[in-house]
Amino acid sequence: MKIKNICCIGAGYVGGPTMAVLALKNPDINITIVDINEARIAAWNDNDLNNLPIYEPGLKEVVQEARGRNLFFSTEVEKAIDEAEMIFISVNTPTKTYGKGKGMAADLKYIELSARQIAKVATTDKIVVEKSTLPVRTAQAIKNILDHTGNGVKFQILSNPEFLAEGTAVQDLLNPDRVLIGGENSKEGNETINALVDIYATWIPKEQILTTNLWSSELSKLVANAFLAQRVSSINAISELCEVTGADVSEVSKAIGMDSRIGPKFLKASVGFGGSCFQKDILNLVYIAKSYGLNEVADYWEQVIIMNDHQKNRFAENIVSKLYNTVSGKKITFLGWAFKKDTNDTRESAAIYVADALLNEEAEITVYDPKVSEERIYEDLDYLNTRSPEENRRLLKVVMEPYHACEKAHAVAILTEWDEFVEYDWENIYTSVIKPAFVFDGRRILDGQFMKDIGFQYDAIGVSILNNI
Ligand code: UDX
Ligand code: ADP
Repeated sequence: MKIKNICCIGAGYVGGPTMAVLALKNPDINITIVDINEARIAAWNDNDLNNLPIYEPGLKEVVQEARGRNLFFSTEVEKAIDEAEMIFISVNTPTKTYGKGKGMAADLKYIELSARQIAKVATTDKIVVEKSTLPVRTAQAIKNILDHTGNGVKFQILSNPEFLAEGTAVQDLLNPDRVLIGGENSKEGNETINALVDIYATWIPKEQILTTNLWSSELSKLVANAFLAQRVSSINAISELCEVTGADVSEVSKAIGMDSRIGPKFLKASVGFGGSCFQKDILNLVYIAKSYGLNEVADYWEQVIIMNDHQKNRFAENIVSKLYNTVSGKKITFLGWAFKKDTNDTRESAAIYVADALLNEEAEITVYDPKVSEERIYEDLDYLNTRSPEENRRLLKVVMEPYHACEKAHAVAILTEWDEFVEYDWENIYTSVIKPAFVFDGRRILDGQFMKDIGFQYDAIGVSILNNI
């Protein structure tokens, strides 16, 4: 089975880069990415590639080569569905904010709407590929909708979860550790799986393309994210222990990471993990475990989230405590708002929650982030609904220049590990801030001794206060 036309529903952080690389590597397949968000599609089609809706290193170059050749962005959802033999669903699956499973389960309404739209439009057989991260057994629900509301055409469902990380999306797509494809265990199922294997095999060695049954594939995505987040929470738990015992968390990470059984990755202590996936997927895992009555399993994984919330809270509390127990009316400068470097994505970023906690203490916050817009920052705060939008704008300012952002600050807090923060002229910053000059490094990126030699009271996650004396 040779696929000639692909449609992807959802032009977001996953759908956009994934399909761009798929198009780059398969010039003989036409790929149309559709989205109901007109502004987003317009940005993907912008002649100035600096205006793409997503910032990812290397993405501009991929889009430049494939767009208009065999990669298209459009709001004509039905037309693209009709023309495609294979349809990827890459819409958002946020945590439910209402009803049963509120705050835990994944909200599948966008998935269901996409399935109903495919069923309505399709007049020829289609392969439907789940790209979004979904609860295990969602494929069954999708199949049920397609088979009972469609026009009598045949649908095959595949699960093909995406493991790219933001900030390194293009590299991860070009050189993935593995590609996972789950499908039905039948003759048709195998043919369908092979059709997708062939598309990836144009640039990925076949040994790295893993095929499984549908449920293993759906569950593996949740489990991979849970394991990764668990490592971050584990090292963050240890960071607190380091701070009171005189150990240094970077040294501990290095020492344990050199054990080949543990490995060095995902052991960087931080102000807390963020991103659209970790929290959402663990909550989803916890919800699924509970719904099968597996309470110990649910409690075990929930602890990863509890630890992460604790890490964000204690970072904010430490700032208050070091600033003599009051930050009311004091200027605190945030360097970074994105949930990690090299992305403009801010979903679940630790910065949002640290800011909220400090604003509750009546701090005045100034934010500088090299890639996040002022509009996005206010939207993130307003979404919490802690205070009015007017109050958020009064108490928090966004400044587009870092040295200006730091002027007259009572404290500078590093929330994102952007490389440029390390390169700043910290001696110059020291002269412009209020003394005593505090720096709270939530990413442990600066050289502590250098900062102390300048005169800063430097405080970093996972570094002992004993060494600060
Ligand atoms: C994650 C998974 O890595 C990816 O496979 C999946 O497809 C989506 O979710 P992403 O959220 O984009 O990717 O970024 P990731 O690099 O995993 O970082 C997540 C969060 O953990 C960030 O806030 C990051 O700063 C934090 N983190 C990561 C740490 O605090 N310490 C680490 O050692 C690693
Ligand atoms: P992700 O990080 O998973 O890619 P995003 O929120 O960045 O998530 O992207 C999901 C995209 O899916 C959004 O741009 C949203 O507008 C789009 N979307 C959601 N539902 C539909 C739908 N029914 N038809 C087309 N696009 C949709």
